[in-house]
Amino acid sequence: MNISRYSRLVLSICTLYVTSAVTAQPNKQKMDSFISELMSKMTIEEKIGQLNLVTGGEATTGSTVSTGVETKIKSGAIGGVFSMTSPQRIRAAQDLAVKHSRLGIPLIFGMDVIHGYKTMFPIPIGLASSWDMNLIRQTAQIAATEATADGINWTFSPMVDISRDPRWGRFSEGSGEDPYLGSRIAIEMVKGYQGDDLAAHNTLMACVKHFALYGASEAGRDYNSTDMSLHRMYNEYFPPYKAAIDAGAGTVMTSFNDINGMPATANKWLMTDVLRQQWGFQGMVVTDYTAINELIDHGLGDLQQVSALSLKAGVDMDMVGEGYLTTLKKSLSEGKVSQADIDRSCRLILETKYKLGLFEDPYKYCDVNRAKNNILTPAHLAKAREVAGKSFVLLKNEQQILPLAKTGKIALIGPLANSGSNMPGTWSVSADLNNTQSLMAGMKEVLGTKVAINYALGSNLLDDPIYQERATMFGRTIPRDNRSEDELIAEALKATEGTDAIIAALGESSEMSGESSSRTEIGIPGNQQRLLKALLKTGKPIVLVLFTGRPLTLTWEQENVPAILNTWFGGTETGKAVADVLFGDVNPSGKLPATFPKNVGQIPLYYGAKNTGRPLANGKWFEKFRSNYLDVDNEPLYPFGYGLSYSTFKYENLKLNTAVLQASETLQVKVEVQNTGKYDGEEVVQLYIRDIVGSLTRPVKELKGFQKVAFKAGEKKTITFEIKEADLKFYNENLEFVSEPGEFEIFVGTNSRDVLSSKFELKK
Ligand code: BGC
Repeated sequence: MNISRYSRLVLSICTLYVTSAVTAQPNKQKMDSFISELMSKMTIEEKIGQLNLVTGGEATTGSTVSTGVETKIKSGAIGGVFSMTSPQRIRAAQDLAVKHSRLGIPLIFGMDVIHGYKTMFPIPIGLASSWDMNLIRQTAQIAATEATADGINWTFSPMVDISRDPRWGRFSEGSGEDPYLGSRIAIEMVKGYQGDDLAAHNTLMACVKHFALYGASEAGRDYNSTDMSLHRMYNEYFPPYKAAIDAGAGTVMTSFNDINGMPATANKWLMTDVLRQQWGFQGMVVTDYTAINELIDHGLGDLQQVSALSLKAGVDMDMVGEGYLTTLKKSLSEGKVSQADIDRSCRLILETKYKLGLFEDPYKYCDVNRAKNNILTPAHLAKAREVAGKSFVLLKNEQQILPLAKTGKIALIGPLANSGSNMPGTWSVSADLNNTQSLMAGMKEVLGTKVAINYALGSNLLDDPIYQERATMFGRTIPRDNRSEDELIAEALKATEGTDAIIAALGESSEMSGESSSRTEIGIPGNQQRLLKALLKTGKPIVLVLFTGRPLTLTWEQENVPAILNTWFGGTETGKAVADVLFGDVNPSGKLPATFPKNVGQIPLYYGAKNTGRPLANGKWFEKFRSNYLDVDNEPLYPFGYGLSYSTFKYENLKLNTAVLQASETLQVKVEVQNTGKYDGEEVVQLYIRDIVGSLTRPVKELKGFQKVAFKAGEKKTITFEIKEADLKFYNENLEFVSEPGEFEIFVGTNSRDVLSSKFELKK
């Protein structure tokens, strides 16, 4: 470390720090005294400067862009920079802070490392579909290794917003509809990023987002309001945030949305009472992009007023908007915020830097050799291929069309067949879009000369060129073909001649989901569906390889297309991984982490709903004066937890070790599962409960356990789950987390619908 100016001001304190090596949990007393000493030297401007997070300019999600960054760093008016990459650039920016600012306080460098850094893994909803907790953790570890090698030390991930509205574009960025699965994944992501030692050069500080309830935006429209009962918040939407905090997530990001009349970014109840007082969070809170400024449009006052509101709510760092930078000093002099408010936030930000080891070595993440050797390594790519294969969900496989034989000729048709840039999926800002294989290129690499491929575009992504332009932003191109729809279809039909099977690569482009990409019609676009109909008329075996960032309404496809493989967006190795599955090298094992509705009008549709006072009897469509629709039944197209394999799994002999569970005991649930098919494969065995009588109404099913188990063809295993009284707890009317004695139902099965069941009683 070049210490020059930096040393003059903080060396004495630093020495104390350096000699005591940074550990997983920094010595609190030393950290406190180091920071107190440093803060005693800081002017009010420098303290407010720490609260300012700017963008390095490479990726922005709003119209405001940071300016004058270099000058501001030197004057101590910036605490962190995000979306700047490369060890050289980051070293240069860090130099400005460390060598040219008065106190030499290092900057923190953030980035949206969401599902991989350069080696892209499946989009989060795809990762969740793997239900493979070890693999999910490994993806976060690899992302941390790569991002830190490129200078980053803080990621704006995991995104843990529960959503039950697939119209919302950001469905793709989360783990779906379920609080239990979402919590399990949140824990793995945090642990994967942060590792055992935050100060290590290859671990990233996590940032749980978007706190809170962003996934419940009304009508699925992005940035929209949320209005929700406390009971639902605590039981259904809060658990993944809390799980991430309990797992040690270092930072939290506010959400954009209004919550029961108070936007999250100014919501003291949320940021202080819930987050810090109830959950004991000790880290710093950063806003989302210009979220403080947006409070003006929410109608809470001018910039000075809303900045003060945010700070007082417990929000520490201001992303891009510079409301804090430009107004807090004035607010302090007018008594609208206190010195203690500013000091609190400044301290939490300095603590974050301390925990990352930045005071010890501000250039810790600037090793050019690591950037050369640790990114896109063969091992990382192999892992990406493995995870992608496990994230795909086989939705239908009539007459065992899949796997396809590795001989002969196939037709590969569709607007998603030959686009490399779409494969990484949304929120992959650091991906190298020009060097990502398309589905066709990946298939060719895997199949070599064994299978000939006839390709045709078949249709544009969307009929409407303006819609297509919106859906192919940020370099995710799908070139438009100006020929008529009929001409494109005719060309596709020609390409199918002499082929043994057709693979139709259809669905959404990567930017049809993600931020600001909500849709009201969530089917496969009409022109693509017309192509599919024409292909079906050939009478050849057809596989729909579906790309999507959200559950789609596939009612027509489910009725008419013999095989459907939902691949979401599988990341860098999508092409090869799809070939692995289609041609039988990998047996699909993904399960849906969200319900697929039959039509948009059923939304929100989720398995963990309440029973109502007039439930519809099982298997019925309509009964007058029951809770149902005239025009569509209540059932989903594909239930939560659903996903097929090339094998079949038989469940039998569900047994509980006792019919009465005493609160101090453990209930053992055993079930026999047999692979009754011809292929080795993995099955996600799922356990749900129902609390039959409660002091509040309880969901008809709640996931409480799952195991992803490998079976040889024909193999039978007894799977055991353990349920404890703690697993039966929920937040009651007074928001106490309690279990209630009485009868419970247990369900075990291959998805949330097809289950065996039994009962027990909890005694306390
Ligand atoms: C998104 C966040 C993201 C931030 C920084 C915002 O628009 O909502 O998820 O972390 O931009 O890029």
